[in-house]
Amino acid sequence: GKRTFTMIKPDAVEAGNSGAIIKMIEEAGFKIVAMKKTKMTPGVAGKFYAVHSERPFYDDLKNYMSSGPIIPMILEKSNAVEDFRKLIGATNPKEAAEGTIRRLFAASIEANAIHGSDSDENAEIESSFFFSELERF
Ligand code: GTP
Ligand code: MG
Repeated sequence: GKRTFTMIKPDAVEAGNSGAIIKMIEEAGFKIVAMKKTKMTPGVAGKFYAVHSERPFYDDLKNYMSSGPIIPMILEKSNAVEDFRKLIGATNPKEAAEGTIRRLFAASIEANAIHGSDSDENAEIESSFFFSELERF
């Protein structure tokens, strides 16, 4: 697939790391197709992460993801989903490889700086969650 979806999470935006993160994304060869700054309510965050609704950390995740502004983006590159997951690193920053975005900027397994879609199908669903058809063109 050529596209993936990402968002810079509240901890990284609040810490002033969004510029450095966007620079890493561009230097890795991703083109920004769409980008905005917005803030989710706990309800919206719960909808975005509905797949985790049975997990013990779901309420914490909703509160964290709605705690401040986020920067959702659609990114374009060949093999986008897989290459972007490599660029951000493991969910837990302690397990994330050297030089990855989460290793550099994530504070904890929850406040882990950035999201990356895990499949082409979810990239499309998540892009549509934040961006209109016109914005995705
Ligand atoms: P995303 O790109 O945000 O989807 O992260 P991921 O695909 O690496 O991990 P996953 O989809 O399994 O989890 C979604 C998000 O829930 C993570 O990025 C964390 O913010 C949070 N999370 C995952 N596991 C834990 C956990 O064990 N405890 C807590 N508090 N939060 C977690
Ligand atoms: Mg995930």
